[in-house]
Amino acid sequence: MPGTKTAVLVRPANIHDVIYIYDLVDSYAHMGNLLPRPMSELYRHLRDFFVVVENNKVVGCGALEIFTETLGEVRSLVVVANKKGQGIGKKLVQHIIEEARIIGLKQIMALTYVPDFFHTLGFKTVKKDTLPEKVWGICVKCYKFNNCDEIAVVIDI
Ligand SMILES: CC(C)(COP(=O)(O)OP(=O)(O)OC[C@H]1O[C@@H](n2cnc3c(N)ncnc32)[C@H](O)[C@@H]1OP(=O)(O)O)[C@@H](O)C(=O)NCCC(=O)NCCS
Repeated sequence: MPGTKTAVLVRPANIHDVIYIYDLVDSYAHMGNLLPRPMSELYRHLRDFFVVVENNKVVGCGALEIFTETLGEVRSLVVVANKKGQGIGKKLVQHIIEEARIIGLKQIMALTYVPDFFHTLGFKTVKKDTLPEKVWGICVKCYKFNNCDEIAVVIDI
């Protein structure tokens, strides 16, 4: 029916979602907005991922990666192009924050080109060198390491 809102559900990803997650991340990795994630890596990290589903279709994805006893990261966050600006990204990150709380994490970070999106969720911009676990554990292996222009944002949860 015209004007009827369809339900949007956030749930843990399953094995059948991987191909859709791959396509979502890949679409932005090509533009340099996100780091590419090969299929093999997505399978290995599947349990980090949540998907947003509307009418049985995956319309968004995002992962919570755990670094330390206190710190996690939101990674591979994407909303399909024709569903942007409808609150889906916000709903997904709020879900990830809640999961992080349940696990017992104290802080979540992201490296991003859209800090203002994260600011609407209560994240604050910080200097990257305040996040040594990320910078020295993961970033050091990244192709952008010497030239990283992403902005670090953090929220205490
Ligand atoms: C960034 C992204 C996930 C946001 O998802 P979305 O569903 O479009 O965002 P929402 O509709 O939930 O927006 C939530 C709030 O953030 C704001 N916002 C969304 N995108 C924004 C942007 N690019 N810049 C500034 N503010 C933005 C919205 O205006 C909204 O504000 P409000 O709560 O005050 O109304 C989505 O645009 C996307 O997939 N981008 C490409 C991939 C990417 O850059 N991912 C982030 C990697 S860290």
